Amino acid sequence: MAALKVVGGSASLPLARALARELAVPFVDASFEKHPGGFPDGERYVRLLGPVAGDHVVLVQTTHPDPNIVEYFLLADAIRDAGARRLTAIIPYFGYGRQDKRFAEGEAVSAKTLAKHIALDADDLLTMTIHNPDILAMFPIRAREVSGVPALGRYLKAADVDLLLAPDDGAVRLVQEAASLAGTPYDHLDKERLDSYTVRVTPKELKVKGRSVAIVDDVISTGGTIATAAKELKAQGATRVLATCVHGLFVGRAEENLKVCDEIVATDTIASPHTKVSVAPEFARALRELLG
Ligand code: R5P
Repeated sequence: MAALKVVGGSASLPLARALARELAVPFVDASFEKHPGGFPDGERYVRLLGPVAGDHVVLVQTTHPDPNIVEYFLLADAIRDAGARRLTAIIPYFGYGRQDKRFAEGEAVSAKTLAKHIALDADDLLTMTIHNPDILAMFPIRAREVSGVPALGRYLKAADVDLLLAPDDGAVRLVQEAASLAGTPYDHLDKERLDSYTVRVTPKELKVKGRSVAIVDDVISTGGTIATAAKELKAQGATRVLATCVHGLFVGRAEENLKVCDEIVATDTIASPHTKVSVAPEFARALRELLG
């Protein structure tokens, strides 16, 4: 049987190493710079620093921002050229997941474009808390979604919160899962997105006076969704608001928008100063299931 080995792209190195430790399998190093400082034109470079011939390689790389997509392709191709027998792609955060439909004639269904090309070298794929689970069917290989909520649940269980809140309809499935893991009640808001930066919530009484509340979402991007929900919670008397997400993109004015929150918690699907929990145990479990 092929030996299991883990390779990490530069976007996901700590998570890839943690996964190799969880699975107690070798981590194969790679180099990402041919010259100190990289190529002057910004092109990516990869070189595997260990053998993978005949092995089952698990390649961990978040496909955000765009240069990390190129790096994924370079690594996957290098792994195949080096003779790996099987390649399982772990895409902790699947960039382009929110472009999952043709909203106007002539548009690319960008999630499908990514899925098609990621599948070129991979035999199977695991990704985490995806924007729309229908995206999995866009992969022409076996593709599975792994929930990142248990990692947040572990944090929330110890965080002494009174209520969990989904900031919109889409996050209800996440908050329900987190609530059952942390043993905490939950509620939700209804959100309307006005543009990429602005959202509006339908006014609703939340019974949060004097309470500590954690907002749970899949993604924090500009922080607009969380900030709007957090302001509503504070206006209704919440004493402490934690912003939690599986994927912390923190783009644009996110840090400023999120100042209304008392604490920000994200997983390591995207490394950031707010990464406080690892999803390595979740991916390790999913891989063991995949291997049977
Ligand atoms: C929306 O469908 C997602 O669940 C998130 O609420 C959204 O992507 C967050 O974006 P932002 O931080 O820019 O409001």
